[in-house]
Amino acid sequence: MEKGELLYEGKAKKVFATDDPELLIVSYKDDATAFNGRKRGTIRGKGVINNRMSNLLMRLLAERGIPTHFVEELSERETLVRKVSIVPLEVIVRNRSAGSFAARYGVPEGIVFAAPTIEFSYKNDALGDPLLNDSHALALGLATASELDTIRIYALEINAILTGIWKSCGVTLVDFKLEFGRLPDGSIVLADEISPDTCRLWDSATGEKLDKDRFRRDLGGVEEAYQEIMRRLEAQLQAGKKDQQS
Ligand code: TMP
Repeated sequence: MEKGELLYEGKAKKVFATDDPELLIVSYKDDATAFNGRKRGTIRGKGVINNRMSNLLMRLLAERGIPTHFVEELSERETLVRKVSIVPLEVIVRNRSAGSFAARYGVPEGIVFAAPTIEFSYKNDALGDPLLNDSHALALGLATASELDTIRIYALEINAILTGIWKSCGVTLVDFKLEFGRLPDGSIVLADEISPDTCRLWDSATGEKLDKDRFRRDLGGVEEAYQEIMRRLEAQLQAGKKDQQS
């Protein structure tokens, strides 16, 4: 697969064309930003971890029937993905209060919800990704009603699958952000990434944060947290494979 021109450089990834018009190469960077780019830094080794973790999780999701953009891991930092037209929504699923939810509604972090919540933000950096509801998304023409339904069903299924995977690693999946895209035939697939940049992951026993909040909130031990969460996932997947063989 020939890597072509740089099409787009985002805050954490670069996207390159390939010689196949239906495929792109994503390259994960160590750059980290928070608060809509106002805080900037580097998390050493993050690109390698996020690439590998996102690919592992997307493979597991695909095995459970969730369509994704993932095609093939090409190297430590690069992955071949299907080209999609991104639905300009950030889809956030929460199992416990944290972050902007806790701030907006004036509640402490860590409250366990009776059922997961799902919310959409308009993916628009200039506006600061404002929260919106279905009728706003329809009014703005961001997605159709049937696409919103599909996205909601997939997001909740993904939550159930990921919650189980992380639980087996001794980790609580507090919340996470997903992005979806449209394939040329109009079908919806999971796109972007699933990583400690886009999830809140707390040690189930101690509550220690093992995700990008360590960077956002200057808690220290950022690199170590990314390494620890990756180590736990890989150890669990290895153990799962051994179980299958025996
Ligand atoms: P929030 O509580 O700040 O709204 O974040 C909810 C989840 O979404 C959290 O797991 C972090 C993730 N997230 C992103 O992936 N990108 C973003 O730009 C923001 C604001 C949050």
